[in-house]
Amino acid sequence: MQLALPSAATLTQRLYQSLRDWIQEGKLGAGTALPSSRQLAHELGLGRNTVLGAIDRLAAEGFVETRRGAGVFVAEWRPEALTSAVSASGIAAPSLSARGRRILDFSGVLSDRYTAFAPGVPALDRFPRERWQRLLRRHRQRAPLEWHDYQHQGGVPALREALCDYLQLSRSVRCRPGQILITQGAQQGFELIARLLADAGEAVWVEEPGYGGAQSCFVAAGLDTVPLAVDEEGANVERVPRVTPPPRLIYVTPSHQYPSGVTMTLPRRMALLDAARRHGAWIIEDDYDSEFRYASAPIASLQGLVDDAPVIYVGTFSKVLYPGLRLGYLVLPEALVDAFKRANARLHREGQYVAQAAVATFIAEGHFVRHVAKMRGLYRQRQAQLRRALAPAVARGLVLSAGQAGMHLVAELDSFELETEMVSRGREAGILLSPLSRYFLQPPGRPGLVLGYAGATETEIASAGRWLSDSWCQLHIRHGR
Ligand SMILES: Cc1ncc(COP(=O)(O)O)c(C=O)c1O
Repeated sequence: MQLALPSAATLTQRLYQSLRDWIQEGKLGAGTALPSSRQLAHELGLGRNTVLGAIDRLAAEGFVETRRGAGVFVAEWRPEALTSAVSASGIAAPSLSARGRRILDFSGVLSDRYTAFAPGVPALDRFPRERWQRLLRRHRQRAPLEWHDYQHQGGVPALREALCDYLQLSRSVRCRPGQILITQGAQQGFELIARLLADAGEAVWVEEPGYGGAQSCFVAAGLDTVPLAVDEEGANVERVPRVTPPPRLIYVTPSHQYPSGVTMTLPRRMALLDAARRHGAWIIEDDYDSEFRYASAPIASLQGLVDDAPVIYVGTFSKVLYPGLRLGYLVLPEALVDAFKRANARLHREGQYVAQAAVATFIAEGHFVRHVAKMRGLYRQRQAQLRRALAPAVARGLVLSAGQAGMHLVAELDSFELETEMVSRGREAGILLSPLSRYFLQPPGRPGLVLGYAGATETEIASAGRWLSDSWCQLHIRHGR
């Protein structure tokens, strides 16, 4: 008898696994009597306690049964019955709910490897990881008892206070620390808003083109997503068809529209606030990357524009620190604070207190501002470098989005065939290209490419940029333009 499992496992575990495999494979049929523990121990050269330990576990899990005075027998085990039950209930070939299928439809491009043009990825290799690990260690060692408990305060107070100062100063957000709820990224914030403020079947207006991550949350909550057209002045509430049901929520990225990159003008902001008030809707202001403006000071938030704006401000550390951190926050109107904190504690539970405290210290000790300033300089250079690499194509008519901000550019294309061809050529060359048409709620959208540059090194931008420029020029000529 060969014992299963590597020798690193205990002898009891190995004997248990071997016997279990034999039973499951049918080598030991139901009703078969096992040799006595003494006999097994003798034959296998094992201690008797080792054998008893394995048999006890098999008996506890129902693979064998002990009949008093008679010995140990293999229990009734009919894998065929299980297999047919599984296929009859459909578990073997899982079918997703209609909602599940819609969520996956919205999931856009998920790349499983790092590539030059992956949108939204910061320069991970430039994050001060050693300092960060030291801060985590410091806070882990000092973790107070309450960080081990269930809580519903909205997050570590030091982080909410540090964020409040930062948001007031640099984003003109009107808030006090109590209005801030720490979440596991912006995504969880959208989820909470969708579930708490709208019922299934109600409408949410979403920018088009727009951010698939937020759209997935709205779809998951059963909301009806209504496109809100975006032009060079930002989202335009006047262009929503009159017959559309009134919105409960309006999702926008006013500082730096995702993905077009435009900044919402003041008249559009006022029109948006007015529409929200008229409909009794909440505006979701997603301020995901406003720290990265290269030619001007950050644009003030929509939330802080007027008193009592019907706005929930959503922030994230995914771009300014790193996405795997999974920390973001909501700035809630006073009237919603209590409900959101309690609902968050019920639906998602709070946690990550060590990381929250480490971010608070990272901000308080000035590392945050320094890191953001460094990344601002780096991303400005990377954008300029990408523009330089694409200059030959631009000279022949490729249109790139304007703007000295953000972590990506949009290249407009003349046709959907060109978009498809560029994406598949990119795949062959190991370069991820995100088609702009995927950022629209309904086909056809507009053809183009969303090009992330923040996470790519200078060498990668130069070579992938050259490849992109050459490929576009070749196809442009082939398409007779
Ligand atoms: C428009 C937009 N909002 C928010 C986020 C951040 O989401 P999270 O905080 O869930 O990582 C992203 C990230 O790609 C984004 O592109």
